[in-house]
Amino acid sequence: MDFKKLATKYGTPCFVYDFDNIIKKYNDIKNIFKARKSLVCYAVKANSNLSLLKHLNTAGAGADCVSVGEIRRAILAGIKPYRIIFSGVGKKDDEIEYALQHDILFINIESSQELARVEQVAKELGKVARISVRINPDINPKTHSYISTGLHENKFGVDIDEAKRLYIYAKNSPHLEPIGVHMHIGSQLTQLQPIKEAVNIVANLVRNLQALKIDIKFFDVGGGLAIRYTDEKLIDIHDYGQMILEELHGLDVTIVTEPGRYIVGDSGYLLTKVLYEKANDSKRFVIVDGAMNDLIRPSLYQATHRIEVYDKADEKSLCTVVGPICESGDFFAKDISLPSTARDDIVVIHDTGAYGYTMSSNYNSRGKAVQVAVQDGDDRCIGAAETFDDMIKLDLEYMGE
Ligand code: LLP
Repeated sequence: MDFKKLATKYGTPCFVYDFDNIIKKYNDIKNIFKARKSLVCYAVKANSNLSLLKHLNTAGAGADCVSVGEIRRAILAGIKPYRIIFSGVGKKDDEIEYALQHDILFINIESSQELARVEQVAKELGKVARISVRINPDINPKTHSYISTGLHENKFGVDIDEAKRLYIYAKNSPHLEPIGVHMHIGSQLTQLQPIKEAVNIVANLVRNLQALKIDIKFFDVGGGLAIRYTDEKLIDIHDYGQMILEELHGLDVTIVTEPGRYIVGDSGYLLTKVLYEKANDSKRFVIVDGAMNDLIRPSLYQATHRIEVYDKADEKSLCTVVGPICESGDFFAKDISLPSTARDDIVVIHDTGAYGYTMSSNYNSRGKAVQVAVQDGDDRCIGAAETFDDMIKLDLEYMGE
């Protein structure tokens, strides 16, 4: 891609998404389950741009949503409600109501109190809520603690015994229909074994439920497949698929997956422009026009993203790449080797398609970045840069004279 041309045309900071690669990655996952009924519910939280959702919809993707906002985005982008599922530990009544009124595929239940709320809302609407229970299998997924979700010390899901109680309760309720099981043990997973152990535990639960005449039709294995940011050893996607097919042997269920990062992560680039270089003592800083409000992953998770100065082959030396925000946590990379830079050089931050724009903010009153799609060699804007007027509109009218 000609990042210089794109940066000049759209301005910086700018997220660029490779729409062709996104479909390739979606198809990778769809194909590993082609021997079975399956539904790939893309995790909207990774990147919720409407054009991107529309693009995935044309390939046949469903959506895994964690708020009413995400459900509304998915529906707006054309994803059919019967391909939408709703997860999350803290669903509010209005969110449950919206999900039920739009007849989405199922709601993932994360506690007994939540099940009671869903039952109550369904009753008030005169509906039957299709549900699945999120099982917390108490397995260590061996990833960053902030994105590990399958241990009892994490807030997610319920243990197996509680799950059984919830399924029996749901089976006996006229307003609940238990149709699925759900698990998701963490994100950026690089080891197959913990996922296998979790799938095994949940598959045994499904067999127990069948014995209780509770007919589970959907087995949701969650998301979490890692991408390569630096030198991570990745799970082979075919091994992943094969493992799931083997663990689910004999179960007549539709396999649901919720990949986010795997589908969009390595299709995104954050383009920023060099403003200045400076040295404090012997420490070299490259100051760019993007910042932690655009991409918070390095600051929040100590995440490493590959960084290059576009089209520059000068001699390299160690530097720290920082943004203009007023705190030392505002960096993209520390002590990496880059060529010497000049004003307006383009610095490309790789693998920013997932949890980049969706985690961006207005910190320091900086508008959110422009978003661009590249497809079949053509580029187009799929999200304008946020203006000053956009940013102030919610509090401007309350300011008074
Ligand atoms: N399903 C559930 C229930 C989830 O909580 C998540 C991610 C996914 C699916 C998708 O996971 P993925 O396939 O993308 O790994 N902001 C963090 C990642 C947070 C993940 C939260 N849940 C980051 O930038 O690394």
